[in-house]
Amino acid sequence: MKVIVTGGLGFIGSHTVVELWNSGFEPVIVDNLSNSNESVLSQLNELTGKQTTCYKIDCTEVDMLREIIREEKPEGIIHFAAHKAVGESVKEPLKYYGNNVNSTLVLINLMREIGIKNLIFSSSCTVYGEPDSIPVTEQNRRKKATSPYGNTKAICEDIIENSVHAYQCLRATSLRYFNPIGAHPSGLIGELPLGVPNNLVPYITQTAVGKRPKLTVFGNDYDTADGTCVRDFIHVVDLAQAHVAALNFLISSKSESLYEVFNIGTGSGNSVLELIQCFEEVNSVKLNYEFGSRREGDIEKIYGCADKARAILGWKSNKTLQEALADAYRWERRLLESN
Ligand code: UD1
Repeated sequence: MKVIVTGGLGFIGSHTVVELWNSGFEPVIVDNLSNSNESVLSQLNELTGKQTTCYKIDCTEVDMLREIIREEKPEGIIHFAAHKAVGESVKEPLKYYGNNVNSTLVLINLMREIGIKNLIFSSSCTVYGEPDSIPVTEQNRRKKATSPYGNTKAICEDIIENSVHAYQCLRATSLRYFNPIGAHPSGLIGELPLGVPNNLVPYITQTAVGKRPKLTVFGNDYDTADGTCVRDFIHVVDLAQAHVAALNFLISSKSESLYEVFNIGTGSGNSVLELIQCFEEVNSVKLNYEFGSRREGDIEKIYGCADKARAILGWKSNKTLQEALADAYRWERRLLESN
């Protein structure tokens, strides 16, 4: 069974391609290389022992995408392709709305037109904003997004939900990811941030190998046990496996049309400082860091309840924070050696 994976050369997309092959699917990548590297494809081929088909096109190119979908006849589509830098989205909102929303519209229109039923959408816990209660469940209300990036996730969720109900020919899930970290244990694929990383773990690994002089911890005066923010850090391989579980759920569903939202997290939180200490311990390194001021728009404390995914998808996270941080560091060292 073929599955189209948009953004399949990206961080979460590439790990999902591996897990799809491992589960007997044939992933077909569509990626415009805007925030990914062609070398990922050869790494994927080495890791899986398979030749993954990859179309280098943009998901807003409707005619080309139509041809690809008609040709490949996929059982479903997993839609990762999106811009994801929160800060950049504030400076260039039209880039974010233009790409993230348009690509989703193009895909849904083509799915209706061609008769492809199953869609998995990459959403984010950012839709919960600063939550009223934690762990957040899918019943927590969504809050107004603090960035255009976050807003594109909420808008795309709505577009998909409305389309499912109106046209009755789609089965879709939105997976709300918490904080994906780590890399494949093989050391062959991982995160490849362009320029200075915005996210915590790539910043840590780059500091640990000497690529950055120092990590700044954004704020230690939050109302948490050690004053630093709390997040639900999930290993990217666990997250990738959630997509396979969601796909199996959609494919085996008897309904003509359905829409479900799932939190994809570990169910518990760790503070930024705990994560740093764990990183130092598991990798036997000392990290150069200092405390700085808070970063605008940061949420104090969030972690998710993943019981719904466990009950309905039969999925739960298995890997530990230690494994994720060992894998992330292995990947960073490998990058250093290969450059
Ligand atoms: C952010 C986005 C989230 C998005 C995710 C993509 C928001 C509010 N959050 O999550 O929607 O899906 O990125 O990966 O839009 N930190 C430091 N120093 C650093 C970098 C980060 O202390 O150099 C801290 C941050 O203040 C935060 C924690 O580490 O408390 C995690 O930050 P980050 O990895 O950027 O993820 P989020 O902001 O949680």
